[in-house]
Amino acid sequence: MSPSPTRTVLLGAGTAIPQVEVDNNALARVMDTNDEWIRERSGVVTRFFVEPGTGSADLGAQAALAALEDAGVEPEEIDYIVCATMTPDHYFPGCGTLIQERLGIGARPALDIRQQCAGFAYGLQVVDALVRSGVAKTVLLVGADVHSSLIPWSERTWRVVLGKDEGPLGDDELEWNSRFRHLTVLFGDGAGAMVFRGEIGSGGAQLGILGSRLLGDGAHREILYVPGAGSTKRPWVDLAMIESGETVPVMDGRKVFKLAVTRMPRVTKELLEENGFGLDDLDLLVMHQANLRINEAAQRALKLPDERVHNVIQKYGNTTSATLPICFEEARAAGKAEPGSLVAFTALGAGLHWGSVLMRL
Ligand code: UT7
Repeated sequence: MSPSPTRTVLLGAGTAIPQVEVDNNALARVMDTNDEWIRERSGVVTRFFVEPGTGSADLGAQAALAALEDAGVEPEEIDYIVCATMTPDHYFPGCGTLIQERLGIGARPALDIRQQCAGFAYGLQVVDALVRSGVAKTVLLVGADVHSSLIPWSERTWRVVLGKDEGPLGDDELEWNSRFRHLTVLFGDGAGAMVFRGEIGSGGAQLGILGSRLLGDGAHREILYVPGAGSTKRPWVDLAMIESGETVPVMDGRKVFKLAVTRMPRVTKELLEENGFGLDDLDLLVMHQANLRINEAAQRALKLPDERVHNVIQKYGNTTSATLPICFEEARAAGKAEPGSLVAFTALGAGLHWGSVLMRL
């Protein structure tokens, strides 16, 4: 009889949410926008920002500690770290080793992946491959993003947003901030983490990561990317790029929206079928949280009832790599992710990268 295969089983999860909560009305003080537009078009009501000086590795380490505690695993037991972020503390090194150091553990492999909003989903696939190939046994996966570092606001704008200055801002500053309003109203900071361990299957219902379907297509690069600052530039970054706004992401929101509402449901369905399941078998769909309207459309396309979908964009905005674990944690707290549940983690983001990972809790 051949031995039962190793499965990558989730032991615990945790999140780190920054202290500073900002509502839509605060944003309306620094740009031409309003609460009604933001809620109607995106669903976002509040988001959280870190204090200046806090980076993705700080938030990531905090989420990692929460996940380790939830898992009942000591930091030293982790034998591989995988970190997803598009806002690393530095251009290099990535956040993996910075998190390892903050956890106070010795040297071990630390891998950074950068698939933006699909980063955590790609991370799940990488963790599963590491565990099932026998390279690692107990793995920490972190998704952390500090979007406030990408927002091109002046110190004065930040003070007004945070209620430390009554304003009003001058016309030039309002105009500059309004130029990026379609982006800046959507994002927030946060981190989430999960701890996995390889376990030998027991012959009953298979637990852990059951399969994944992840894709990438550079043909859609220009609908969401940062044009300035990079290796095609010489120098990497200069003042002219910053002053012209080239270091701020460019996003064709409508094109991203259309791709998300078609590809997220399609890939989820394909993955379920590949693994011998139908939509009726799915207990919970955890989707990337870029826009509530995207997720409502995806839910309708899959004909899933509200009890089997969870959304947190209203509270946190889009936290990129942190979104899937934060949404999962909130779904679990709401009683939607019980032991034995079949959960799909589905995302789409810049690259274009998209895909889905299936897990039995
Ligand atoms: O994970 C990252 C991936 N990103 C996404 O998935 C984003 C997907 N796309 C979206 O979420 C939506 O396309 C947005 C929320 C970005 C935009 O919503 P929309 O319904 O597609 O609006 P739009 O871009 O077609 O703009 C409609 C109007 C425009 O004004 P005019 O040209 O009609 O006068 C915009 O300038 O809304 C204006 N607008 C705003 N107005 C008030 C854009 N942003 C804002 C704003 N406040 N924040």
